[in-house]
Amino acid sequence: MDRFEKRAMALALFLVLMFFGLVVYAAKGLQADLPTCLPNARLFERGRMVEIGPNRYQVDVVAYMWGFDMGTVNQIKVPRGAVVDFYITSKDVMHGYHIDRTLVNLMAIPGAVTYSRARFDRAGEYQIICHEYCGLGHQNMAGKVIVE
Ligand code: CUA
Repeated sequence: MDRFEKRAMALALFLVLMFFGLVVYAAKGLQADLPTCLPNARLFERGRMVEIGPNRYQVDVVAYMWGFDMGTVNQIKVPRGAVVDFYITSKDVMHGYHIDRTLVNLMAIPGAVTYSRARFDRAGEYQIICHEYCGLGHQNMAGKVIVE
Protein backbone atom coordinates (compact mmCIF):
# COMPACT_ATOMS: atom_id res chain seq x y z
CA MET A 1 0.00 0.00 0.00
CA ASP A 2 1.27 3.44 -0.93
CA ARG A 3 2.25 5.61 2.05
CA PHE A 4 -0.29 8.31 1.04
CA GLU A 5 -3.00 5.67 1.01
CA LYS A 6 -1.93 4.60 4.49
CA ARG A 7 -2.09 8.21 5.70
CA ALA A 8 -5.53 8.69 4.12
CA MET A 9 -6.78 5.46 5.74
CA ALA A 10 -5.32 6.49 9.12
CA LEU A 11 -6.92 9.94 8.84
CA ALA A 12 -10.32 8.43 7.93
CA LEU A 13 -10.11 6.00 10.85
CA PHE A 14 -9.12 8.85 13.19
CA LEU A 15 -12.08 10.98 12.04
CA VAL A 16 -14.59 8.14 12.44
CA LEU A 17 -13.31 7.41 15.97
CA MET A 18 -13.31 11.14 16.83
CA PHE A 19 -16.92 11.62 15.62
CA PHE A 20 -18.04 8.54 17.55
CA GLY A 21 -16.20 9.79 20.64
CA LEU A 22 -17.83 13.23 20.34
CA VAL A 23 -21.31 11.71 20.04
CA VAL A 24 -20.71 9.62 23.17
CA TYR A 25 -19.27 12.67 24.96
CA ALA A 26 -22.28 14.85 23.99
CA ALA A 27 -24.74 12.19 25.16
CA LYS A 28 -22.97 11.26 28.41
CA GLY A 29 -20.67 14.15 29.30
CA LEU A 30 -22.89 17.05 28.28
CA GLN A 31 -26.14 15.18 29.02
CA ALA A 32 -27.45 16.09 25.57
CA ASP A 33 -30.87 14.54 25.45
CA LEU A 34 -31.17 13.03 22.00
CA PRO A 35 -34.61 13.18 20.35
CA THR A 36 -36.47 9.94 20.85
CA CYS A 37 -39.39 8.43 18.99
CA LEU A 38 -41.72 6.56 21.34
CA PRO A 39 -43.70 4.26 19.03
CA ASN A 40 -45.60 2.63 21.90
CA ALA A 41 -46.35 5.80 23.86
CA ARG A 42 -49.93 6.72 24.64
CA LEU A 43 -51.32 8.96 21.94
CA PHE A 44 -53.05 12.17 22.93
CA GLU A 45 -55.35 14.48 21.00
CA ARG A 46 -55.11 17.67 23.04
CA GLY A 47 -52.19 19.70 24.25
CA ARG A 48 -51.55 20.31 27.92
CA MET A 49 -48.89 21.42 30.34
CA VAL A 50 -48.65 19.81 33.77
CA GLU A 51 -46.28 20.35 36.67
CA ILE A 52 -44.69 17.01 37.54
CA GLY A 53 -42.30 18.14 40.29
CA PRO A 54 -40.45 21.14 41.68
CA ASN A 55 -39.81 23.28 38.60
CA ARG A 56 -40.40 20.21 36.40
CA TYR A 57 -43.02 20.25 33.68
CA GLN A 58 -44.42 17.98 31.05
CA VAL A 59 -45.84 19.50 27.91
CA ASP A 60 -47.93 17.44 25.50
CA VAL A 61 -47.86 19.23 22.15
CA VAL A 62 -50.28 18.59 19.32
CA ALA A 63 -49.12 20.13 16.06
CA TYR A 64 -51.77 20.97 13.48
CA MET A 65 -52.22 23.17 10.45
CA TRP A 66 -50.90 25.70 11.47
CA GLY A 67 -50.12 25.96 15.11
CA PHE A 68 -49.08 24.17 18.29
CA ASP A 69 -51.61 23.18 20.94
CA MET A 70 -49.65 23.04 24.21
CA GLY A 71 -52.67 23.49 26.47
CA THR A 72 -52.56 27.07 25.31
CA VAL A 73 -52.16 27.94 21.67
CA ASN A 74 -48.62 28.57 20.47
CA GLN A 75 -47.04 29.56 23.78
CA ILE A 76 -46.25 28.38 27.27
CA LYS A 77 -44.78 30.13 30.30
CA VAL A 78 -42.33 28.52 32.70
CA PRO A 79 -40.16 29.86 35.51
CA ARG A 80 -36.41 30.26 35.10
CA GLY A 81 -34.50 27.01 35.64
CA ALA A 82 -37.47 24.88 34.61
CA VAL A 83 -36.81 21.44 33.16
CA VAL A 84 -39.47 20.61 30.61
CA ASP A 85 -40.26 17.28 28.96
CA PHE A 86 -41.80 17.76 25.53
CA TYR A 87 -43.98 15.04 24.03
CA ILE A 88 -45.22 15.85 20.57
CA THR A 89 -47.54 14.39 17.99
CA SER A 90 -49.49 15.70 15.02
CA LYS A 91 -53.16 15.59 14.18
CA ASP A 92 -52.74 15.97 10.40
CA VAL A 93 -49.42 15.95 8.53
CA MET A 94 -45.76 15.90 9.53
CA HIS A 95 -44.57 19.06 11.22
CA GLY A 96 -41.33 20.10 12.83
CA TYR A 97 -40.79 21.46 16.34
CA HIS A 98 -37.58 23.33 17.00
CA ILE A 99 -37.07 25.52 20.06
CA ASP A 100 -34.41 28.12 19.49
CA ARG A 101 -31.34 28.00 21.78
CA THR A 102 -32.18 24.49 22.99
CA LEU A 103 -31.52 20.97 21.75
CA VAL A 104 -35.26 20.41 21.15
CA ASN A 105 -35.53 19.54 17.47
CA LEU A 106 -38.36 17.08 16.90
CA MET A 107 -40.60 15.77 14.17
CA ALA A 108 -44.34 15.80 14.87
CA ILE A 109 -45.62 12.61 13.29
CA PRO A 110 -49.30 11.55 13.06
CA GLY A 111 -49.80 8.34 15.06
CA ALA A 112 -46.49 8.58 16.90
CA VAL A 113 -45.01 10.50 19.82
CA THR A 114 -41.53 11.98 19.90
CA TYR A 115 -39.80 13.22 23.01
CA SER A 116 -37.10 15.62 24.13
CA ARG A 117 -36.16 17.52 27.28
CA ALA A 118 -34.92 21.07 27.76
CA ARG A 119 -33.77 23.18 30.67
CA PHE A 120 -34.45 26.92 30.53
CA ASP A 121 -31.78 28.70 32.57
CA ARG A 122 -32.11 32.14 31.03
CA ALA A 123 -35.15 34.38 31.23
CA GLY A 124 -36.60 35.55 27.94
CA GLU A 125 -38.47 34.25 24.94
CA TYR A 126 -37.48 31.12 23.10
CA GLN A 127 -38.94 30.95 19.61
CA ILE A 128 -40.55 27.73 18.43
CA ILE A 129 -40.70 27.08 14.71
CA CYS A 130 -42.02 24.37 12.45
CA HIS A 131 -39.01 23.35 10.37
CA GLU A 132 -40.74 20.81 8.14
CA TYR A 133 -42.65 22.10 5.14
CA CYS A 134 -46.28 21.27 5.95
CA GLY A 135 -48.38 23.29 3.53
CA LEU A 136 -49.40 26.80 2.55
CA GLY A 137 -49.38 28.18 6.11
CA HIS A 138 -46.05 26.63 7.08
CA GLN A 139 -44.27 29.94 7.41
CA ASN A 140 -46.84 31.15 9.96
CA MET A 141 -46.45 28.12 12.21
CA ALA A 142 -44.53 29.41 15.20
CA GLY A 143 -44.79 29.74 18.92
CA LYS A 144 -42.73 30.56 21.97
CA VAL A 145 -41.63 29.47 25.39
CA ILE A 146 -41.65 32.43 27.77
CA VAL A 147 -39.23 32.02 30.65
CA GLU A 148 -39.96 34.38 33.56
CU1 CUA B 1 -45.98 22.75 10.31
CU2 CUA B 1 -44.36 23.48 8.71
